[in-house]
Amino acid sequence: MKIVILGAAGQLGRQLARVLPDAVSLKHEDADLTKPDHLRQTLAQLRPWVVVNAAGYTHVDRAETNADGAFAVNAHGVRDLAVICRELDSPLIHISTNYVFGADDLRTTPYRESDVPGPISVYGASKLLGECHVQAMCPKHFILRTCGLYGPGGQRSNFVEAMLRQAEKGAAIRVVDDQVCTPTSAFDLAYAVRGLVDSETYGLYHVTNSSACSWHEFARSIFEMTKRRVELVAIASSAYPALARRPRYSVLDNSRWIGAGFTPLRSWQEALAQYLAERVS
Ligand SMILES: NC(=O)c1ccc[n+]([C@@H]2O[C@H](COP(=O)([O-])OP(=O)(O)OC[C@H]3O[C@@H](n4cnc5c(N)ncnc54)[C@H](OP(=O)(O)O)[C@@H]3O)[C@@H](O)[C@H]2O)c1
Repeated sequence: MKIVILGAAGQLGRQLARVLPDAVSLKHEDADLTKPDHLRQTLAQLRPWVVVNAAGYTHVDRAETNADGAFAVNAHGVRDLAVICRELDSPLIHISTNYVFGADDLRTTPYRESDVPGPISVYGASKLLGECHVQAMCPKHFILRTCGLYGPGGQRSNFVEAMLRQAEKGAAIRVVDDQVCTPTSAFDLAYAVRGLVDSETYGLYHVTNSSACSWHEFARSIFEMTKRRVELVAIASSAYPALARRPRYSVLDNSRWIGAGFTPLRSWQEALAQYLAERVS
């Protein structure tokens, strides 16, 4: 059962390599989604039992001024990958995002897979088109929509590390309290993916840690759990200028995942506590 991980140097990719130690881990330079000929050759040689795609263009703000770059990876690259997986008869486990939602400004209840998406950012739109391609081109697929990933050792900082770095500076920390979602441990998501590698219950699933919070609430828990004394100020998104718009509410309902017999992920508080406990500070 040869498992191939794409995007192996990213936050999720690293955790996938941790929970699937026998997998072939391919980094950006080993397998580039925007180079289909090389990708096809690489995967044809490996003949994977299953391919896990953790690669993506994840710079949400930068995507607003580089739509071509975001779509090249998240949409067109994913289409090519889906075609290759179909040719090889390899199931594809693909990761998507809560940012396919957001257009419904009045939403206050968790989104189900049957809800019509409505992205409000270039990144979200590019990920949504990627999902469509996977569904159209590769019948044996899992698409997991997740949210607010944080994990150790990726090349880019995550929210938890950013907060702890800010705390070192001693100044007041301003965090938005009008964006509600479910920050999710990359380790927990990787574990969930591990449970799929010999499953045939294909389809689209929402998979996050359970419960929900605003980013302000998440920050407060980070500081409480690490016993940091900081001045934490709740602000509105309008007071925090960013190129890309983010959904006001984008909690994902995991009941399809649980109903299909997969293990529910623990609460975001438990997952955060483990991340902080294992962190080398
Ligand atoms: N982070 C979140 O909060 C979040 C939330 C919901 C969903 N997701 C989704 O979850 C997945 C994993 O996210 P993550 O946080 O682990 O992202 P990440 O840390 O940014 O990792 C993404 C990886 O993809 C690689 N990559 C970029 N362009 C590529 C290309 N053309 N070909 C092959 N690899 C390429 C990156 O390499 P370079 O660094 O060299 O470019 C990086 O190693 C993504 O699909 C993302 O959209 C993330």
